[in-house]
Amino acid sequence: MSQVPHFLPFPKDFRFGTSVSSFQVEGNSGTRKSDWDIFLQNHPTIIKPGEVGPEWWKKGKAEGDIDLMADLGMHVQRLSFEWARIEPEEGKINLEALRRYREVIDHLKKKQITPLVTLNHYTLPQWIAKKGSWENPKIVEAFEKYASVVAYEFGDVTTWLTLNEPGVLIEIGYLLPYFPPQRVGLAAANTARTNMLNAHRRAYTVLKKRILNASVSMAFAFRWYRPENPYNFFETQYANVVDYFDSLNYIEAVKDKLDFIGCNFYAGYFLHFNPSTIRFRLHGPASKPPKTILFGELRKAGAYTSDLGAPIVPGFFLELLLTLKKRFDKPIIITENGIADRRDYHRSFYYLTHLVAVWRAMQQGVDIRQYLAWSTIDNLEWLEGYAEEFGLVHVDQVSGKRTVRKSAHLYRDIVKANGIDTKALITKYLQGEQQEKAELLIHHLLTKHKSEIVAE
Ligand code: BGC
Repeated sequence: MSQVPHFLPFPKDFRFGTSVSSFQVEGNSGTRKSDWDIFLQNHPTIIKPGEVGPEWWKKGKAEGDIDLMADLGMHVQRLSFEWARIEPEEGKINLEALRRYREVIDHLKKKQITPLVTLNHYTLPQWIAKKGSWENPKIVEAFEKYASVVAYEFGDVTTWLTLNEPGVLIEIGYLLPYFPPQRVGLAAANTARTNMLNAHRRAYTVLKKRILNASVSMAFAFRWYRPENPYNFFETQYANVVDYFDSLNYIEAVKDKLDFIGCNFYAGYFLHFNPSTIRFRLHGPASKPPKTILFGELRKAGAYTSDLGAPIVPGFFLELLLTLKKRFDKPIIITENGIADRRDYHRSFYYLTHLVAVWRAMQQGVDIRQYLAWSTIDNLEWLEGYAEEFGLVHVDQVSGKRTVRKSAHLYRDIVKANGIDTKALITKYLQGEQQEKAELLIHHLLTKHKSEIVAE
């Protein structure tokens, strides 16, 4: 094997951190009237008896987790604000909600952690859900007003995401009936998409106008699809089309109003072109990973998978980052990257190899500014309830007890060294055959050309 460096240093101003969304960590306390509150009431088995969640809405709970992140050396915390708390009724601003978010932001600042705020992470106020959610064009103006209230109150926050993963919500809330509003229809999906993108444009403008040095984007979801056989012309073109419709088209549509690209990456698949397959599903309930899509079948790559069957494929991540650079040439913030892994068995392997992919992408000229792991703590994984665990910190969702996972220590070691000591981390954190697999994979990530990178 050719020689590769053992220590991979990050630039001095690179920022590491972790991510959450408000609905997933706040628990049920306080006033919150969102479409997801109704959805959970109508699906009472999603949350199990006694589960209260991480309860960030309660004073002290968010603060305690922020303290843990400060101990781990984190520089950035991504969180979201809940529109349904800030504006529980149309046009009425709830000062108590603004005060609570102010407390959390101030606590982050006190701990020298920079907040990165998402305005909307899937959930909507009920008053707007009743009027058609993202299908009603009036939502664009309502969102702009909400953005302007928030911008006025939180002018000290400078990095913003307007929406989280519009593509996922369109697919599983408007084309397929999994997430609220559970609509099924091409017209519904198309209208919702247009309104979401317009809402982004308006919120972008408001944030930029009100906050002098604001940097604004969206978090885009990337399930990265690559041809199973890169020498097959149809398969390659087909994978490119799927990636375009699944993710890249959203960036294309608003690229004049993006200061950076917010990149959420978890997993990727090989795509096998098969014109006789006419089912369509890319996303969906996390516990039911898709196997087929329109004209194609998904094939797993990589040595390991998450608890949800998602392949661990850092090569796909690297390929994606290089593609984003080539296509858009904008700064990138990795706004989510992580794995459902209750036993914390593969998480260290996952973070180590994905951070190597980030490093290598930067070596190849990709302008990546921050890396945020999903998630700070175990939280409400939407349709899966609290059953799936993405946290660097484990949370007992009944007692609320926190336990920092071993993988969080691996991440801490990288953050504190501002670089990746691959040899030392493999020895300290990986077990058995994972060690050899990581060595080979890291070598591959550090030496292969873009065209070969997904084929480990
Ligand atoms: C979403 C998160 C979710 C995570 C893990 C992302 O697509 O933004 O809300 O918890 O995936 O499934």
